[in-house]
Amino acid sequence: MSLFLFFLLFSILLNNISNISAYSSQPGICYGQLGNNLPKPSKSISLIKSLNAKRIKIYDTNPQILTTLKNTNIQVSIMLPNELITNISTNQTLSDQWIKSNVLPYYPQTLIRYLLVGNEIISSTPNSTWLHLVPAMRRIKHSLKKFRIKKIKVGTSSAMDVLETSFPPSNAAFRKDIAIQVIKPMLRFLNRTGSFFFLDVYPFFPWSSDPVNINLDYALFRASNVTIKDPGSSLVYTNLFDQMVDAVYFAMEKLGFPDIRIFIAETGWPNGGDFDQIGANVFNAATYNRNFIKKVMEKPGTPARPGLILPSFLFALFNENIKPGPGTERHFGLLYPNGTRVYDIDLSGKTPESEFPTLPPPENNEQYKGKIWCVAARGSNVTALGEALSYACTQGNRTCEPIQPGKECFKPDSVFWHASYAFSSYWTQFKKIGGTCYFNGLATQTAKDPSKCIFLY
Ligand SMILES: *[C@@H]1O[C@H](CO)[C@@H](O)[C@H](O)[C@H]1NC(C)=O
Ligand SMILES: *[C@@H]1O[C@H](CO)[C@@H](O)[C@H](O)[C@H]1NC(C)=O
Ligand SMILES: *[C@@H]1O[C@H](CO)[C@@H](O)[C@H](O)[C@H]1NC(C)=O
Ligand SMILES: *[C@@H]1O[C@H](CO)[C@@H](O)[C@H](O)[C@H]1NC(C)=O
Ligand SMILES: *[C@@H]1O[C@H](CO)[C@@H](O)[C@H](O)[C@H]1NC(C)=O
Ligand SMILES: *[C@@H]1O[C@H](CO)[C@@H](O)[C@H](O)[C@H]1NC(C)=O
Ligand SMILES: *[C@@H]1O[C@H](CO)[C@@H](O)[C@H](O)[C@H]1NC(C)=O
Ligand SMILES: *[C@@H]1O[C@H](CO)[C@@H](O)[C@H](O)[C@H]1NC(C)=O
Repeated sequence: MSLFLFFLLFSILLNNISNISAYSSQPGICYGQLGNNLPKPSKSISLIKSLNAKRIKIYDTNPQILTTLKNTNIQVSIMLPNELITNISTNQTLSDQWIKSNVLPYYPQTLIRYLLVGNEIISSTPNSTWLHLVPAMRRIKHSLKKFRIKKIKVGTSSAMDVLETSFPPSNAAFRKDIAIQVIKPMLRFLNRTGSFFFLDVYPFFPWSSDPVNINLDYALFRASNVTIKDPGSSLVYTNLFDQMVDAVYFAMEKLGFPDIRIFIAETGWPNGGDFDQIGANVFNAATYNRNFIKKVMEKPGTPARPGLILPSFLFALFNENIKPGPGTERHFGLLYPNGTRVYDIDLSGKTPESEFPTLPPPENNEQYKGKIWCVAARGSNVTALGEALSYACTQGNRTCEPIQPGKECFKPDSVFWHASYAFSSYWTQFKKIGGTCYFNGLATQTAKDPSKCIFLY
């Protein structure tokens, strides 16, 4: 073998090794901060270190976090807020300024490696923002170039709702209203810049909305006898996660971009939730996350992209108590806010299942059949409760009629009681169209009958 060929091979090998370390299979952690009881950034970073995480994702450019991460070996994904996308898309000066004040003070000592322009833009902003997304990504990339920053990949995170159809995976396609106007230019940008399609993937959601037809073990990576064969591609699936990810690969291929890699920007399983949320428990959360880690570490890739490393972030570091929506939203943490682990986890995937302490058995893997009421949460701020009560009473039909003075449910005449009545009455009417028992944390579900006055849905 000629010396030249040898060096060529050697450098290809080196290149591959450096690629592999840059995009290691070991999952990172999403460090969300939507809690009013979370530790300070410095403490949180030591918790992240104690979990041995090598990569974290934050949802902003928090200066304390980015400063604390200086001269550590932890890679970071930062985020440009949704609200800035429209302005940045038309203003290069603004884009430059944003990079100057949010990246330059920390880079390169802080290993910023990914910059996500917005969070689930298609799912969470009015469609007037959508057309600005890719132009904003281009401007941000241009600014980075101006400042000679090459190591930061620019992307944006998408949820599965960017797809119109996802099953079978080979039949998947992006939604018609965004495919040509938003997704195609985005894919062109990602392909040209060697970036990733950042995808949030939660098998919990499709499973919990159809637990009869989808096998729980298939969603938790523990199905040994459940396989689904895609008739279009003949690929065989052994878990729901692969099926969801491959749907996006196929959809990208359909638009002419078969080479773009996927980065799992979020995945996870809730460790708790509301009474009526099936399968949200510590057992399933630990099982999902541990099996996910083993899967990506031991057998990289998916049926459509075997062997291709799938870099990822687990969601999330903490249970975050001020996230709105159903209870599961506030229960995705690996840790409680006090820093204690909800269950043991080893991000390297090397700890055998038998060495973890026994998990509490799952108690809600079947649909909850009892009654549930939505009442005011103990210890709630009474002023805030009064405001929520007024709001609830203006919603729906005759929501608060029985608690008017002189009516059958007026007594006891307290804000706490009236709010409990109003929350239950509100929830009864709006549950079917996605209304939640939350009210900024002022409301909570109970399975104990609070009063004869509160009727059930
Ligand atoms: C966007 O620009 C407009 C006009 O300059 C300004 O009024 C608005 O406050 C800006 N929006 C944000 C979120 O900075
Ligand atoms: C662009 O952004 C810069 C910096 O924020 C601002 O001074 C300027 O007015 C903006 N230009 C336009 C046309 O909005
Ligand atoms: C945004 O939504 C409105 C109402 O559904 C629709 O009329 C409009 O065409 C949409 N705009 C874009 C850019 O998709
Ligand atoms: C995507 O990028 C690759 C590598 O740079 C290139 O060979 C390919 O032509 C690009 N694909 C499209 C559809 O632009
Ligand atoms: C898989 O195997 C288990 C245990 O043998 C059995 O209980 C279960 O019904 C099987 N599931 C399917 C879908 O065949
Ligand atoms: C931390 O919080 C959890 C959940 O509230 C609780 O079970 C646990 O005892 C707490 N641990 C410590 C050390 O306070
Ligand atoms: C209680 O809620 C009111 C209204 O939302 C707020 O202004 C006030 O600061 C809150 N008090 C406390 C102690 O949190
Ligand atoms: C209120 O009543 C109207 C008329 O009967 C009905 O169309 C509407 O859906 C009701 N609203 C709710 C929240 O149930």
